[in-house]
Amino acid sequence: MRRMLFRIIFVIPILAFIGIQYIEVDRTNPPVKADLEAPMEIKNIFRTSCYDCHSNQTRWAWYSKVAPISWMIVDDVNEGRKLLNFSEWGTLFSEKREELKKKIWEELTADEMPPGNYIYLHPGASLEIIQKNTLKKWLQNSNY
Ligand code: HEC
Repeated sequence: MRRMLFRIIFVIPILAFIGIQYIEVDRTNPPVKADLEAPMEIKNIFRTSCYDCHSNQTRWAWYSKVAPISWMIVDDVNEGRKLLNFSEWGTLFSEKREELKKKIWEELTADEMPPGNYIYLHPGASLEIIQKNTLKKWLQNSNY
């Protein structure tokens, strides 16, 4: 009986954990088509805080290779890229870029991006007020 219990509590989850590592996930970095062009200061902020999920230049961390965390990260990156991909910025119509700039503004104001769990793992990605203001000034004045 105790042996059975030991199996259920320890062995089965460990085997399951090992098993799910064999499920393939696609950690892609497709070619950069037309990256956002902006002053260095602006690009650096976006690169540090947003590019892991909103570009084709994701820096895949070691834990992004461990299931089940990897599934969540790949989902986030795929969804993030679908909505806003700085690597394709130059291919967008200006109306689309304006719409995205408005959304970026909203996310910055609401403090929604970068997501809290990402900042927890990447403290350096958290945006200071002064950085947010720098981005907002650019969002307002840039016609690109
Ligand atoms: C850890 C991944 C991650 C990072 C880093 C990240 N985002 Fe996101 N972002 C997402 C995901 C996932 C969504 C879609 C779901 C949601 O809105 O929460 C999203 C949605 C958005 C949207 C909404 C797009 C739309 O069409 O509704 C904007 C704008 C945005 N992010 C901007 C940013 C900016 C600006 C940064 C950097 C300051 C950033 N994000 C950093 C994952 C990320």
